[in-house]
Amino acid sequence: MTDTLTTGFDSATLLSRLGAHESPLGGFGPPPSGVAADAIRLLGGVPADEALPTRQLRAAYDATLSDPAISVAALQYSSAPGIEPLRSWIAGHEGTDPDRVLVTNGALHGLSLLFSAILDPGDTVLVESPTFPLALRLLGHYGAQVVSVSVTEQGLDLDALEDRLRAGLRPKLFYLIPDFQNPTGSTLPAADRARVVALAEQYGFLVVSDNPYRDLRFAGEGVADASLESEVVVRVNTFSKTLGPGLRLGWLAGPRRLIPALTRLRGNNDQHSSLLTQTAIARLLTTPGEFDGILTAAHEIYRERSRALTTELRASVGDVLEFSDPEGGIFLWATASDPELDLSAVQARARALGTDFSLGRYFDPDGAVHHTQNLRLGFSNNSPERLRTAAQRLAEAFHAH
Ligand SMILES: Cc1ncc(COP(=O)(O)O)c(C=O)c1O
Repeated sequence: MTDTLTTGFDSATLLSRLGAHESPLGGFGPPPSGVAADAIRLLGGVPADEALPTRQLRAAYDATLSDPAISVAALQYSSAPGIEPLRSWIAGHEGTDPDRVLVTNGALHGLSLLFSAILDPGDTVLVESPTFPLALRLLGHYGAQVVSVSVTEQGLDLDALEDRLRAGLRPKLFYLIPDFQNPTGSTLPAADRARVVALAEQYGFLVVSDNPYRDLRFAGEGVADASLESEVVVRVNTFSKTLGPGLRLGWLAGPRRLIPALTRLRGNNDQHSSLLTQTAIARLLTTPGEFDGILTAAHEIYRERSRALTTELRASVGDVLEFSDPEGGIFLWATASDPELDLSAVQARARALGTDFSLGRYFDPDGAVHHTQNLRLGFSNNSPERLRTAAQRLAEAFHAH
């Protein structure tokens, strides 16, 4: 007999109803077939194991749990905005007021809250091309119509965008990854950030700055992010790339007109982020020098890894692959000089030789038709030695055709 209550809620129907895909971050699970189990996979956006501050976290959790009054309080319920010491630290980091900060379970959660609050199915949303595929999936989930704006070496193609806005395009928001972008590793020039905000103010859309790699600059000069002085700017950020993605802790900072509604939505969903984690992380962040020390150690690791990869790539595959040296973050974006080269075939050879990379077209908001000459190499979670070996295998894969 059919159980009418459950009809339509079997796994396959649910998956298709939700448009659910497997998590595409890559690099965590077992390798796909054709890739050796010990292959050096230059894939995911995960921090280096060595950069994760286990000692500092242990001290922060110990201090939280060993004081009976604090530990008991940290295991109780709390309120949606997040605890005051953490919001104050975040507000200082963002140059705004604590009442404009909402603590979240990471950047994707912040984006999800924001999209669910402001997007209606069919709304137009601007994104960079290429961009972070999980954000695209989230936008798809909320029914957004994505319009792409090209990222070039010089910045965003804002002339083309302005023409389209003049012609009547009315986006609800522009989703940007301004520093050490995923996947290109590029940083948006200050002039572009200012122009995007000016366009947003003129045409009435939000600028959503998702900036998880901002604190990971290991060379060159920083660029100020879009100012929270503007009523159209929302910053979404996370401790995932600095303290560890397993913490699931991040934040959203934005205009006063948005934060109360997002906080209420958050409270109605899952109430609040782990109070134990918030309390321990607030302690770590307010211990003088602790966070800066963690960042400095991470910068050294990523600088060394990035240089190991770029130096070996230039030496062994520089004749067929073009790229600029990353100044921060964890990604290198390279372009094959031969436009006819089939990068899928190169990837298959690379996999057989014991390495792997992400195809550029995977990051195309327009459906894997652009960026076919590009590849993304993640240099964060392999030692310099393994990165050099991976670059040599990559060279073999490129030169074998
Ligand atoms: C641009 C961007 N946003 C958000 C995230 C995910 O952040 P979180 O772990 O805080 O959800 C990533 C991780 O790869 C990312 O690259």
